[in-house]
Amino acid sequence: MIITIDGPAAAGKGTFCNYLAKKYRLAYFDTGMVYRAVGLQMVLTGCDLKDQAKAAEFARTLTFPKMMELAAHKDFRSDVGSNAASVVSAYPDVRAALLKMQQDFALNPVFADGSPAKGVVYDGRDTGTVVCPNADLKLFVSASTEIRAQRRYEEFLSKGIATTYEKVLQDMKARDERDSNRSAAPLKPADDAVIIDTSAKDVEVNMQKIIPLVEAVLQNLTIEK
Ligand code: DC
Repeated sequence: MIITIDGPAAAGKGTFCNYLAKKYRLAYFDTGMVYRAVGLQMVLTGCDLKDQAKAAEFARTLTFPKMMELAAHKDFRSDVGSNAASVVSAYPDVRAALLKMQQDFALNPVFADGSPAKGVVYDGRDTGTVVCPNADLKLFVSASTEIRAQRRYEEFLSKGIATTYEKVLQDMKARDERDSNRSAAPLKPADDAVIIDTSAKDVEVNMQKIIPLVEAVLQNLTIEK
């Protein structure tokens, strides 16, 4: 079973993915990590983020172990890492180079400890439109920019990262703008995605909406066998 969950930053994709991965024993692929890895490599090696050829070279040579090594860096999820990821993710050559790695994961999904999983839940921006257009279930999760900025701001505070709500809101607007208006795989729902607005609802209410959709997919997959 392949489930894709796309949407803008801090919309709640991670919460949905973690919940579904646990409940249905699916591997979880957070595809933002591949772009964060390339972006952070650019930053750490002092490359100009505008250098598309260099970013594409890092993308072509990225491996899972390298990505996990970079994920341990303090700036992997900071605003520095987020901004770099958003910039390099707009480059068509970077996206093309990282596509196979993301698609191949569904052929042989594994948990973090390497044991095999029965399927995968993807978290990203284009996983329902580009990475897995044939996914069994596609969700598009969103919420207002202000609510997403507030969530991200609280997350930063809880991690002891010094910032202000205004700065987080400004960064989020800039990132949304770049992710939605780039020519290569812009952030948008797949035509067959189910749209979930997480602005007001609590997590449990949203999960109760999604579970019947997943159960229907599982039933169809069993019948097809
Ligand atoms: O989900 P995230 O915040 O970790 O993603 C970081 C950046 O990577 C985001 O600004 C856009 C990009 N991204 C993308 O273009 N396509 C994806 N499937 C996932 C992330």
